[in-house]
Amino acid sequence: MEKLKFIKEFLKNWRVVGSVTPSSRFLMNKMIVPVNFERAKIIVELGPGLGGLTKKLLTRMNQESKLLVFEINPDFCRELEKINDARLQIFNTSALGLTDYLKGEKVDYVLSGLPLTNFDDEARSTLLQTVKNVLRPAAIYIQFQYSLGAYKELQSIFNRVSIKFTLLNIPPAFVYQCYD
Ligand SMILES: C[S@@+](CC[C@H](N)C(=O)[O-])C[C@H]1O[C@@H](n2cnc3c(N)ncnc32)[C@H](O)[C@@H]1O
Repeated sequence: MEKLKFIKEFLKNWRVVGSVTPSSRFLMNKMIVPVNFERAKIIVELGPGLGGLTKKLLTRMNQESKLLVFEINPDFCRELEKINDARLQIFNTSALGLTDYLKGEKVDYVLSGLPLTNFDDEARSTLLQTVKNVLRPAAIYIQFQYSLGAYKELQSIFNRVSIKFTLLNIPPAFVYQCYD
């Protein structure tokens, strides 16, 4: 059922939704490997879609942590609203405006499923710079993609970028871990 909802949104706007199906549990598990849930006070998720990763994060986070999610698609946001958890804040707005909602707070982890290669150059550059600016020292930006198209740009912005890969997703995906 979830998959059908996702496909429907993909058919309405493939460029923004960016994939035909939600991420697999294998990909989500790879995304959270570097997250130290004991230490994390503020986690941001960009492009949560139907919230598979959102729910996983909430399961692992401690009770004092906050999870702020930014999803541009109102239908996906309606689904996210069904998650009943006081630690979760849902913003139905573009991730590009992230800073306006953080009220000066810095973030421990940014996890993102945004389709970076579908953004125009200016928007992608603004987004990556915005993410960099909201990270605390020693924070990590974790981004999955289906290609290596954004690798050079990520390397030009972050001090260190490592790449993981999983075949167990449709399509197979790269996971970037970006450190300042
Ligand atoms: C590839 S899907 C990933 C969905 C989900 N994270 C997953 O892994 O199944 C990309 C998501 O990013 C959202 N999105 C695209 N552009 C966005 C933007 N500028 N701001 C916030 N969300 C955006 C889409 O609506 C979609 O939910």
